[in-house]
Amino acid sequence: MSAGEKPKIGVFGAGWVGLVTGACFAELGHEVIVRDVLPERIAALESGRVPLHEPELPELLERNRERLTFTLEVDDAVSAPIMFVCVGTPPTYSGDADLSAVWTVVDQLPELEERAILVMKSTVPVGTGEKVRAALDARGLAHVGYVSNPEFLSEGSAVRDFMHPDRVVVGAFTEADGAAVTALYEPLETTVVQADVASAEMIKLAANAFLMTRISFINEIANVCEATGADVVKVAEGVGLDHRLGPHFLRAGIGWGGSCFPKDGVALKQLASNSGYHFQLLNAVIEVNELQKRRVVGKLAKHLGSLRGKTIALLGLAFKPNTNDMRDAPSLILAPRLLAEGAVVRGWDPVALEEAKQALRGVELSETLLEALTDADGAVIVTEWDELSGLLTSELRDAMRTPLIVDGRNLLDPGEARAAGFVYESIGRAAHDLDVLPETEEPETKLHQ
Ligand code: UGA
Repeated sequence: MSAGEKPKIGVFGAGWVGLVTGACFAELGHEVIVRDVLPERIAALESGRVPLHEPELPELLERNRERLTFTLEVDDAVSAPIMFVCVGTPPTYSGDADLSAVWTVVDQLPELEERAILVMKSTVPVGTGEKVRAALDARGLAHVGYVSNPEFLSEGSAVRDFMHPDRVVVGAFTEADGAAVTALYEPLETTVVQADVASAEMIKLAANAFLMTRISFINEIANVCEATGADVVKVAEGVGLDHRLGPHFLRAGIGWGGSCFPKDGVALKQLASNSGYHFQLLNAVIEVNELQKRRVVGKLAKHLGSLRGKTIALLGLAFKPNTNDMRDAPSLILAPRLLAEGAVVRGWDPVALEEAKQALRGVELSETLLEALTDADGAVIVTEWDELSGLLTSELRDAMRTPLIVDGRNLLDPGEARAAGFVYESIGRAAHDLDVLPETEEPETKLHQ
């Protein structure tokens, strides 16, 4: 590499993090080689298909085609002097992170002659860097540096998050390795937090745990609002304007899901308990989240009585809008819960129907909102897709057997919902949740007729 030339970058793992990282570094002018073990994934990428739904990513990959290579071969990826590890670290049954994909990357590194740096972007327990360092040394790869550089990308806005980060965290064993990785981010003109490896690993886990804590906190406040007549949306606004607290992650709802929070929360809890510490607060935060999803069932039952034989439409199946990711989505808890109550469960999502086919057994999937709502006894907004902002039409209302909406994301305006003829429940907005379905001897009839 000549002076001034941008180093070539290798990326292990063509999932969300790997593809966004690879595409963004290509956008910044690097030649990037992305390696994955799945032949179908590599074939799709080579032919220009993007195997996941992430805004801006297809355009970025297309624009940087010349600089991006996709491969199944380890040897191609290790030709780069800087190699990012972006493989999955899913939970094991014990709750600990499964690091087998990380170790496969480390173990498959050939005898590199040139100096290189392995950069960990995957979320790993504190102490992983030390262990990888020792393993590299034991294999005669002491000249391969190791840097922890956790990702803070949110699905649905991952490209923007990469290009406009709040900060970049670089944890290194040597100054030179830290400087080499820091230099990659120079064009982004952001704050770089230089740390030791263990602290960098902990920053990632602590940041996610804090975000989860804020969500569970506001959800508990919402539950108290329901019991006392306050409105959590107003409360969050008033609390969030305190500059010491800030407005983010105070949206009350049915709790978090996704590929990160559920696994990272449990992984930190286990990391603490494996180290002899009982992380009480985090335990409570996780439990609040589990219970929060189930409150939806009570809200439906409040209006419908027994759910046996009732048709309930789940609107939004992906764990959040703008992604087709179903991992630990709240819909995965709600659907079997409702099925267990004897309900007929329908599901609608603008992008995740294919994924839902695999993940949601026993659920009737609908291509359109009208199909999902026709003759439904109730609808639950599970994920706040933009499309659902247009839910309050007379066509959809009249299609439902009973026009009941349980808004699990406080997406709609309670007054507008009521004015449009819906019975409307939301989360923590007790003052607006006073609607009661009219008594009827024939629950089969459409109440608005
Ligand atoms: C999260 C973090 O936000 C990222 O910083 C982190 O890099 C990522 O995990 C990761 O560890 O890889 P992500 O899971 O993609 O990103 O999405 P979020 O926007 O954080 O949402 C997570 C869940 O929290 C969603 O189910 C969302 O509906 C829920 N949420 C979020 C709330 O219920 N209330 C809020 O106020 C905010």
